[in-house]
Amino acid sequence: MEGALPVPVNMTQDELKALVGQAALAYVVPGTVVGVGTGSTVNHFIDALATMKDRIAGAVSSSVASTERLRAHGITVLDAATVTSIPVYIDGADEIDHSGHMIKGGGAALTREKIVADLAERFVCIADESKLVEVLGSYPLPVEVIPMAAAQVARRFERQYGGQATLRAGVVTDNGNAILDVRGLRITEPLAMETEVNQWPGVVTVGIFGRHRASVCLLGTAAGVRTLT
Ligand code: 5RP
Repeated sequence: MEGALPVPVNMTQDELKALVGQAALAYVVPGTVVGVGTGSTVNHFIDALATMKDRIAGAVSSSVASTERLRAHGITVLDAATVTSIPVYIDGADEIDHSGHMIKGGGAALTREKIVADLAERFVCIADESKLVEVLGSYPLPVEVIPMAAAQVARRFERQYGGQATLRAGVVTDNGNAILDVRGLRITEPLAMETEVNQWPGVVTVGIFGRHRASVCLLGTAAGVRTLT
């Protein structure tokens, strides 16, 4: 832990998210394209990014929702296919462990999030302190699946890991797929589980970010922003 800036006590979770959204501006490299994630914490970051929009070359976005918010602020959104590399990707997490491994996909944007993270040299995670865990898995693990394979993948989670998967009702991803949420997991080996599940037929992306773990995490706490590296 380093550099905890004092903040008023009794901040709400949303105020903690706003705090780290603002703090993430320090990681934006002027003159370059910024990778932008998805979710309520990232929404605060996007609003903060608008204050320096004339000093960046644009953004690559991980969802339709973030694209709309960026454009509403007048920030140029580039097609990921036209970008070969970006210095930094900034995104939230549903859980993060002390090594920077994450569960993501609570907002169903995990596939595009992993694609943009893969373009980036550095992943800066922004989250309120409730997201920091010892072992991943209390938060239901999102998995984007081709709808035809949903039941098959769910059965396989039960058989192989003892996890109970349910289809997220009423959700179709930006890619036209379904989301399974898997409960009852204790993910002690995130890299191994990520590699394994990603090989199952019909799985588009598993919401374990092991290979694409955070290099830095800005954690909003009652004592200020903690920087975990
Ligand atoms: C979206 C995500 C989000 O980063 C994650 O769900 C955290 O969201 P929030 O900032 O709203 O707590 O992975 O797919």
